[in-house]
Amino acid sequence: MLPPTLPIILASISLTAAAAISFGTIVHYPPTNTSIGDLEAVFNPTTGTNGGYYSTSVVPDDGYGAYDYCNMPHARAREYVIPRGYNLQYVELIHRHHKRTPYASNTFPYEDIAMYCDDVETVYYGQPKNGVSVTNIWWKNYQDPSNPLTYYKNGFNGTCQFPQISYAGLDDSAQHGRDLWSVYGDKLKFLPKTFDPATMRIRATSNEITSQVGGALVRAMYPHLSEVNVWQQISAVDSLEPGYSCSFADNVRSTYQGTDEWYEHLDLAKGVFDQLDEISGVDPNDSGWHSWFDHYFDNLSSRLCHQLPLPCKISNSSDCVSEQLAEQVFRLGDYEYNYIFREAANSTLYSATHYGAFIAELMSRLKGKVAGKESTIYRHNIAHDGSIAPLLGALQINTLRWPGMGSEVIFELWRKEFSHDYSVRVLYGGKPLVTSTPLGTLDMVSYDDFIAYLESLVGNNGELVYQYCTSS
Ligand SMILES: *[C@@H]1O[C@H](CO)[C@@H](O)[C@H](O)[C@H]1NC(C)=O
Ligand SMILES: *[C@@H]1O[C@H](CO)[C@@H](O)[C@H](O)[C@H]1NC(C)=O
Ligand SMILES: *[C@@H]1O[C@H](CO)[C@@H](O)[C@H](O)[C@H]1NC(C)=O
Ligand SMILES: *[C@@H]1O[C@H](CO)[C@@H](O)[C@H](O)[C@H]1NC(C)=O
Ligand SMILES: *[C@@H]1O[C@H](CO)[C@@H](O)[C@H](O)[C@H]1NC(C)=O
Ligand SMILES: *[C@@H]1O[C@H](CO)[C@@H](O)[C@H](O)[C@H]1NC(C)=O
Repeated sequence: MLPPTLPIILASISLTAAAAISFGTIVHYPPTNTSIGDLEAVFNPTTGTNGGYYSTSVVPDDGYGAYDYCNMPHARAREYVIPRGYNLQYVELIHRHHKRTPYASNTFPYEDIAMYCDDVETVYYGQPKNGVSVTNIWWKNYQDPSNPLTYYKNGFNGTCQFPQISYAGLDDSAQHGRDLWSVYGDKLKFLPKTFDPATMRIRATSNEITSQVGGALVRAMYPHLSEVNVWQQISAVDSLEPGYSCSFADNVRSTYQGTDEWYEHLDLAKGVFDQLDEISGVDPNDSGWHSWFDHYFDNLSSRLCHQLPLPCKISNSSDCVSEQLAEQVFRLGDYEYNYIFREAANSTLYSATHYGAFIAELMSRLKGKVAGKESTIYRHNIAHDGSIAPLLGALQINTLRWPGMGSEVIFELWRKEFSHDYSVRVLYGGKPLVTSTPLGTLDMVSYDDFIAYLESLVGNNGELVYQYCTSS
């Protein structure tokens, strides 16, 4: 059943249908950077990666800001620019968790190396507020050789849960926290010296890896803070992961991922899949591994980010994934993210509905701040690539590559001194976000223009998301 207000939206389609890039008020502005979507370059073995790093968390200071899949650049004092003549009012930050093991679904049937996580213990328990006191529970992951299924298709031998944030990923999380403090604590004196739960909020998704990152990151910002609430929405409607279902959005995406335009790169990649399947033992008929490069990308990149070797065939340790083959997979990964979240004409409609609930929340806080009704000054959201990509898609970033570990988007609300004029700056990787919308680079754009843009995506109060996502 369509909600009663939908006909109004449908009516406006016919006005804009000729452009073929609008749906109601949601307008798609194609990216002008076409290099990532250029199939000739994607399949040219001499292309290398699209630039940057895939095997280290450390980028030298003079190159900071470069793409680093293992540890994406974020705001820090060294590069951070303070806009003169403005006072900071509100910060909402969202980033992908830091580096981790692969997800279980991305491990090969038999991995040729083992992976150990004994250097990290995760903690999980429920403490009644006014009731029995409980013992802290530290999870110890292990495999028992007398479990007859232990080595049956479980991917890696060893002691990691898939996924879990690695020791090195926790280091990166702590560095991220120190860097944020260097900006919003030391440099701007915007954050209080003591964590203030009334004005600051840390939020995570129900996926425990986001809380693992939070522990290291918050402690680095507030070294004396031993406990903190991490806010988590009910999974079924969580806007951050996002966890809410929106079949309208899913249908939009599956339509443009069902076109010849989408299948073209998969057809061209047949030989790439063959080589990878042969080495990994992945069933060539397994659609999860072959409907896109997500699984192979995750598998290869998480090895490289942890200085582990690229995989070899179990039966022949000299038949391995080459660096060139890995780079081919990384180019294909960028290609797919760019297609799904930016190039496809309906990608903006998808992102605006699939991630619209978060955008509506963000918008309501910006409005609340300007109206003097919002008491928080800092909200910190720890999320996933599946959160950052549609957010960047909705903002229509001009160059989208797969948002790597720790990728960060910051929304800053500034007020001009001695006035009521507000401006918004959006930083991605620590730099003002370059979009292909009429807003251009989101560097101190007018608050009214920014809100008008968000309203075009989700409605004045998020009602478009409600309408689309509750229509069957
Ligand atoms: C386009 O994307 C490529 C690959 O990331 C990058 O090297 C290049 O600088 C981008 N061009 C512009 C104009 O942003
Ligand atoms: C990569 O795939 C192999 C083979 O399935 C698997 O054992 C391994 O766990 C995967 N690695 C990652 C990081 O996903
Ligand atoms: C994994 O454990 C099994 C059983 O002990 C062993 O046969 C196999 O060689 C191990 N693989 C690796 C990569 O350690
Ligand atoms: C994949 O499917 C094809 C056609 O259904 C079949 O002939 C082939 O044996 C399958 N391959 C594997 C490895 O299961
Ligand atoms: C093992 O792989 C290497 C490299 O692909 C190949 O040259 C060699 O013939 C293979 N050995 C066997 C026994 O298949
Ligand atoms: C975008 O999706 C809408 C809703 O499903 C559909 O009506 C429209 O035809 C699609 N537009 C394009 C360009 O595919």
